[in-house]
Amino acid sequence: MTLDVSASQLQTHDFRVDCALRSRLLRQMPAILWFTGLSGAGKSTIANSVEMRLHASGRLTYILDGDSVRLGLCKDLGFSDVDRHENVRRVAEVARLMADAGMIVLVCFISPFRADRVIARATAAGHRFAEIHVHAPVEVAEARDPKGLYRLARSGVIQNFTGIDSPYEPPESPDVFIGTAEMSIEDGVDEVLKWFEAQW
Ligand code: ADX
Repeated sequence: MTLDVSASQLQTHDFRVDCALRSRLLRQMPAILWFTGLSGAGKSTIANSVEMRLHASGRLTYILDGDSVRLGLCKDLGFSDVDRHENVRRVAEVARLMADAGMIVLVCFISPFRADRVIARATAAGHRFAEIHVHAPVEVAEARDPKGLYRLARSGVIQNFTGIDSPYEPPESPDVFIGTAEMSIEDGVDEVLKWFEAQW
């Protein structure tokens, strides 16, 4: 069943505790750090270390990661282009809600399409937003193959695998670029934190 509720039928309530009040309570400015890149490029690894550093400095954070979100909120979605659009759309909405709640949200999704990432930034609705391109050439990501999925994609067991038979559109001007084939994890983390602190 499709419910078609037009915006004119909805009226948002003017709740009195807003993002500014929550930010003051938490003593932090919310932000969305959007990590994009191929599977195996290092998004979750970098985000994990960034989160540990932010947490250690007293920031309230949360990681939204493709592999876990797809087990719940997005378990009805696969890897067709249409499903990836919907996956990224939902996650962008959740990230915005969490930023409204005052949190620093680290989002780790391949998010292969430029147009979807543009929508994600627009959805963030004024919150600090960084598009972080975690880049490794496909040959490097494939050689790492931490989950064995490239092997399955090459042998045709799984289809529509990003970088093999599904496209990845790299950001043209990311806020942060991390080349994990030539840079250490720690240097990559420093790049992200440099952006973060510059926004403070
Ligand atoms: S996205 O393209 O819609 O943004 P998302 O980040 O949620 O993808 O999920 C990617 C993860 O799903 C990968 O890290 C990998 O573990 C797993 N996966 C399973 N099948 C595929 C596929 N066909 N293409 C890409 N990733 C896949």
